[in-house]
Amino acid sequence: MIDTSDAWIAARTGIRQRHVAAPEEASSDMATQAALRALESAGITAEQLDLIIVGTISPDMPMPSTAMFVQRNIGARRDCPGFDLSAACAGFIYGLSIADNFVRSGQARYVLVIGVELLSRLVDWGDRSTCVLFGDGAGAVVIGPSEGDGRGIYSTHIYADGSKIESLYIPGGGSRTPPSEEMLRNKQHLVHMTGKDVFRYAVKGLSSSVRTALEANSLAPAEVDWVIPHQANIRILEAVQTRTGIPMERFFINIDKTANTSSASVPIALDQAARAGKLQPRQSLVFCALGGGIAWGSALVRW
Ligand code: ACO
Repeated sequence: MIDTSDAWIAARTGIRQRHVAAPEEASSDMATQAALRALESAGITAEQLDLIIVGTISPDMPMPSTAMFVQRNIGARRDCPGFDLSAACAGFIYGLSIADNFVRSGQARYVLVIGVELLSRLVDWGDRSTCVLFGDGAGAVVIGPSEGDGRGIYSTHIYADGSKIESLYIPGGGSRTPPSEEMLRNKQHLVHMTGKDVFRYAVKGLSSSVRTALEANSLAPAEVDWVIPHQANIRILEAVQTRTGIPMERFFINIDKTANTSSASVPIALDQAARAGKLQPRQSLVFCALGGGIAWGSALVRW
């Protein structure tokens, strides 16, 4: 379809394979699978959830939220609130931050936070600078009160810079430019990106938010056990490594197998690291992500 090569993609991004959802699948289908696995890992039932947050820019439909489909699919309480939040690749970190505050304030005991993205439906398969980057997927966690054993979320920091909106956005399909034949012809319903700018913002935003997470917790780079980063481009992560001083072997990397799954990226990586037995209790984990908005953030967790 496009003039590219496996060698270019692997060398410039680190991506070797990715997953594309089946035509009959929607975001809530993947989100439901991730949610059920997270509930099983957490050892709680769907009825115990007090809130469902779904970070996504590829919801099933504009209304209702993807969270409502998940509520129905997993059998959560019929009065369990839920909503989608739009922070692109930072959606999971934003959701984690909200969940942390709901649990800390006592307004919720258990919050389900999902990152799900089906960007294969929202990229221009004729644009080689974007269509090679994204994969589909979902990841989820359950956030609950800490049991006083030192484990838990120690900090979250979230940021956004609206002056950079046009570097990465989907301009059509909303109230500004509603669906029309002209909108479709101009491909305004698809991802538009200035890759070089986003690359620069990503290196800067990810590095600074990781450093902020360390400073807020008086941690030295050498004390970080794992960075679970947004998997956008291996070269971005190498630059973040240099700027933060955290050794590359502490970065959990799965971009070669998943590509960039946007808001699902961090929870998928977390799940894979956990299931591979790489995470030990009370290890220090730093999450970080940046995407359209430009929105970004970090979290420090003791596993
Ligand atoms: N195959 C072959 N050539 C390509 C491809 C491709 N898939 N894509 C771009 N090129 C070409 C360009 O057309 C250009 O050719 P030209 O010099 O003849 O014009 C050449 O490669 C260099 O293009 P650059 O944009 O300079 O390539 P760069 O090394 O910056 O890599 C990339 C492009 C991979 C998009 C990079 O800029 C990037 O990763 N940016 C971050 C974007 C990102 O990750 N976005 C995801 C959402 S946000 C986030 O998750 C952080």
